[in-house]
Amino acid sequence: MKVLSIFGTRPEAVKMAPVVKALSHETAIESLVCVTGQHRLMLQQVLDLFEIKADHSLDAMLPNQALNGLGARLIALLDPVLEAVKPDRILVHGDTTTAMMAALAAFHRHIPVAHVEAGLRTGDLTQPWPEEMNRRYVDVVSDLLFAPTTRAKANLTAEHLAGRAIVTGNTVIDALHMTTRRIALDRHLRENLDAHLPYLRANQKLLLVTGHRRENFGAGFIEICDALVKLSQRSDIQIVYPVHLNPNVQIPVLAALSHLPNVHLIEPLDYLLFVRLMQRAHVILTDSGGVQEEAPALGKPVLVMRNVTERPEAVSAGTVQLVGTDPARIVAAVEQLYDDDCAWEQATYRINPYGDGRAAERIVDVLCGRATDEFGVEKFDQVETAQLAATLLQ
Ligand code: UD1
Ligand code: UDP
Repeated sequence: MKVLSIFGTRPEAVKMAPVVKALSHETAIESLVCVTGQHRLMLQQVLDLFEIKADHSLDAMLPNQALNGLGARLIALLDPVLEAVKPDRILVHGDTTTAMMAALAAFHRHIPVAHVEAGLRTGDLTQPWPEEMNRRYVDVVSDLLFAPTTRAKANLTAEHLAGRAIVTGNTVIDALHMTTRRIALDRHLRENLDAHLPYLRANQKLLLVTGHRRENFGAGFIEICDALVKLSQRSDIQIVYPVHLNPNVQIPVLAALSHLPNVHLIEPLDYLLFVRLMQRAHVILTDSGGVQEEAPALGKPVLVMRNVTERPEAVSAGTVQLVGTDPARIVAAVEQLYDDDCAWEQATYRINPYGDGRAAERIVDVLCGRATDEFGVEKFDQVETAQLAATLLQ
């Protein structure tokens, strides 16, 4: 069977890497990869780290791309690849414009689509925008729906979707597990990574920040920066912010924060270094989807700069708090975690509602027609949890 995995952005690459790796060990499957280049630089960082070579590499990205132009370019570039490869199925991930346009292109050619990270919902088409629509669309056309959690599967069931839904866990936990294990087992690597973070100060606790959501462009980013300016005045906080390459993020963030001594604005980091930085953080402030899943697994408190989330599991567990973009709310939430040890301890409770590191294995089992179990928190093995926690903490 010929399986073509199509992805184009950094988070998709992180989350598809374990699947592509697992597929490469299957003799019954010819696994091919097409990257769309929706993200050019940030995607390449991930491919290099996981040693993934693209069989087809498209060049869809334009500076400051608008969604319709991007969508049109993607479908025009993807169709000849589908024509040439004639895959038996395509695999797409999540909720990006790449995932949606690839699913549409395959649907038009009657090629079956499998959706990794199916069933995430906020219930609000404007948040996250345009991702909530993208993922609903992909779920409608997919015949295999790999849901990361039982809640995601319940969302699919509630929508009466025709695809077969299986709870696999989120592949981001596989990627995180692979990466933290590498860091834990290799002292030289650890030292090398730390040498790349010379600005971290022992007398200040790290507040790690990321942000790139389109619905926060404009007013949202100005508010976020206002909050960071306030927080940078505290001598016990050091802010490190790898700034997304989107100019709608770069311009306001550099203008508001680049002159502040307590704030380190840096280039997007490769995944290995970013995981190391997460391990060394005291608190993480983000609007990212993937970071919301990774941080609870690392036992790090996360404040999410969104009003709603499609990943409510860690919110229920108390390790993730939604703070929106109101500066007063962000500052109050960060300060509580810095000033109240009890609140911080509670938010560091390490949970893994998103996966057990076996999502890719389950996905590949299904693709190969083998029986598999489903991921569920209640089934999560206690010993495995303890072992995983030990590596994640190194
Ligand atoms: C996209 C996805 C979002 C995903 C996010 C992950 C859509 C609509 N959005 O948002 O779902 O969560 O990626 O990061 O699919 N740029 C570069 N080099 C890069 C990457 C980006 O220069 O390697 C700049 C370019 O100017 C580009 C811009 O960033 O035009 C925006 O990239 P785009 O993919 O449109 O949007 P994201 O905000 O990254
Ligand atoms: N990430 C990274 N380098 C960075 C910032 C984030 O490798 O400088 C990783 C992060 O660990 C996560 C993924 O990129 O796995 C999330 O990407 P992003 O926040 O851009 O997208 P989202 O998850 O919101 O779709």
